Amino acid sequence: MKHTKHYWRAGFLLVGGLIGFIFVRHFLVPTSFGQFGFYRGTNLAEQQAKSVVHGGKESCSTCHEDVAKNHAAGSHAVVQCENCHAALSKHINKDGEFVELMPIDRSPQLCLRCHRSLPSRPTGFPQIETKEHLGLDEPELQAGACLACHNSHRPSLEKKKVKYENNG
Ligand code: HEC
Ligand code: HEC
Ligand code: HEC
Ligand code: HEC
Repeated sequence: MKHTKHYWRAGFLLVGGLIGFIFVRHFLVPTSFGQFGFYRGTNLAEQQAKSVVHGGKESCSTCHEDVAKNHAAGSHAVVQCENCHAALSKHINKDGEFVELMPIDRSPQLCLRCHRSLPSRPTGFPQIETKEHLGLDEPELQAGACLACHNSHRPSLEKKKVKYENNG
C-alpha cells in the first residue's frame, strides 16, 4: 500500500473530469434534446415554420393542365418542372398569388446539363455529342438549338405522332 499515490491522483483526475463534463453538458445541451430521438425536439417546430420553396410537379398542374398532361405522357415525366424552370415560391406565393413569371431557359446548356455525353453517366442514359448530333460544337449552338426539333416537355421524336394539343 506504499506506492498507490499515483493511482489516486489519476482516479481523482478522472472523476473530476467526469463531474466537470456532466456539469458543462447540463448547460450546453438544449432541454428538448432527446424528446423524440437523438436531436433537439424543438427543431421540429422550427422546420415546420419555414415556408415551402418547392411544390413538386403536382403544384403546377392546377394552373398549367395542358403542359402537365403533355409532360406526364413522355420520357421527361421523371424530370421535375422546377428542375428546368425555378422553384414554385419564385412564381406563386403560399397564398396561391402570382409573384412573377417563371423563367424559361431556352439555351442548349439546359438540355446538355443532363444529356451531354459523359463517361460518368449510367449506360443507356440518352446522351449526345453535339458534333455528331447537329454537326456543331457546343459553343456554336444558339438559344433554341434543341427546341427546333425536340419539345422540351415531351422530347422523344418517336412519340411525335401523338398530336400535341398545343406546343406546351
Ligand atoms: C396559381 C396558378 C399557377 C401555378 C400553381 C403555377 N403557375 Fe405558372 N403561370 C401562372 C400564370 C397566371 C402565368 C402567366 C400567364 C401565362 O403565361 O399563362 C404563368 C406562367 C408560367 C410560365 C411562362 C412564363 C413566360 O415567360 O411565359 C411558366 C414557364 C410557368 N408558369 C411555369 C410554372 C411551373 C413550373 C409551376 C409549378 C412549379 C407553375 N408555373 C405553377 C399561374 C400558375
Ligand atoms: C434534369 C435533367 C434533364 C434535363 C435538363 C433535360 N433532360 Fe431530357 N431526359 C432526362 C431524363 C431523365 C430522360 C429519360 C431517360 C430515360 O428514360 O432513360 C430524358 C429523356 C430525353 C429524351 C428521350 C430519349 C429517348 O431515348 O427516349 C430526349 C430526346 C431528351 N431527353 C431531350 C432533352 C432536351 C431537348 C432537353 C432540353 C430542352 C432536355 N432533354 C433536358 C433528363 C433531362
Ligand atoms: C435537327 C433536329 C434535331 C435537333 C436540332 C436536335 N435533335 Fe436530338 N434528336 C433528333 C433525332 C431525329 C433523334 C432520334 C430520334 C429520337 O430518339 O427520338 C434525336 C435524339 C436525341 C436524344 C436521344 C439520344 C439517345 O441515345 O436516345 C437526345 C438526348 C437528344 N436528341 C438531345 C438533343 C439535344 C440536347 C439537342 C440540342 C443540343 C438536340 N437533341 C437537338 C433530332 C434533333
Ligand atoms: C426539360 C426541361 C423542362 C421541364 C422538365 C419542364 N419544362 Fe416547361 N419549358 C421548358 C422550355 C425549354 C420551355 C420553352 C419551350 C419553347 O420555347 O419551345 C418551356 C416552356 C414552358 C411554358 C410556357 C410555354 C408553354 O409551353 O406553354 C410553361 C407554362 C411551362 N414550360 C410549364 C412547365 C410545367 C408545368 C412543367 C412540369 C409539368 C414543365 N414546364 C417542365 C423546359 C422544361
